[in-house]
Amino acid sequence: MSDEMQRYYALRAPEYEQIYFRDIPDRRRELDAAAASIEKIAQGKTVLELASGTGYWTQVMSNTAERIMAVDLAPEMVREARKKQYQCPVELVHGDLYEMPFERSGFDLVALGFWMSHHPRQRFGTLFDVLVYGLKPDGKIWVVDNNPPAEGPELKFVRTDEHGNNYKQRRLNDGREFVVLKNYFSEAELKVLFSTRFDIESMVYGTYYWSSLLSLKTSAA
Ligand SMILES: C[S@@+](CC[C@H](N)C(=O)[O-])C[C@H]1O[C@@H](n2cnc3c(N)ncnc32)[C@H](O)[C@@H]1O
Repeated sequence: MSDEMQRYYALRAPEYEQIYFRDIPDRRRELDAAAASIEKIAQGKTVLELASGTGYWTQVMSNTAERIMAVDLAPEMVREARKKQYQCPVELVHGDLYEMPFERSGFDLVALGFWMSHHPRQRFGTLFDVLVYGLKPDGKIWVVDNNPPAEGPELKFVRTDEHGNNYKQRRLNDGREFVVLKNYFSEAELKVLFSTRFDIESMVYGTYYWSSLLSLKTSAA
């Protein structure tokens, strides 16, 4: 992650969850549907959540999971996540997901919320390696992220780099501005990307959000 993005997420930790409570009814419905779906998927599972932030999805999954290990790079985010109550044992870890500070093949489910869109396109292979590393051979991966309408019209597009990564303006409540890598994906593009490594068990592609449940291709397991 760039230094600017790291600083942005550290400073944004206390206000981060506002993204979940800007209430447009259709947007809320999509979020609630994603929550209902991951709650069902996580039932009885050992879960590794990467880039877990303030623990929004951690808390949802804790309603049904057996246990969760949640990893985030920003101590400020981990601190926010520690304020929540969880319904199953949750280990909140301050660490870098790319250094894989977790057991190999140790989890039934690996969850990644709102991080694929910040990861550089030219290195998706590395991100997929990380997701696979923690997963039991018969495990599942759940990825959720947003489409542009979820962010509203006010955040400016800044530039595109030579790899096709977009950079977008972000603003804290106090007005400070940052530029962060933020990509968006069509449903067709996601299917092509995921199919390089995974079987796509399901894909929900809404107006505001998309989510997908993946498993290892039999040949790659
Ligand atoms: C957009 S937030 C998503 C938070 C949470 N998953 C959610 O969906 O609400 C991105 C998070 O990724 C974390 N992050 C960024 N780089 C990371 C890394 N290398 N390892 C672990 N976490 C990272 C940031 O600190 C931030 O909390």
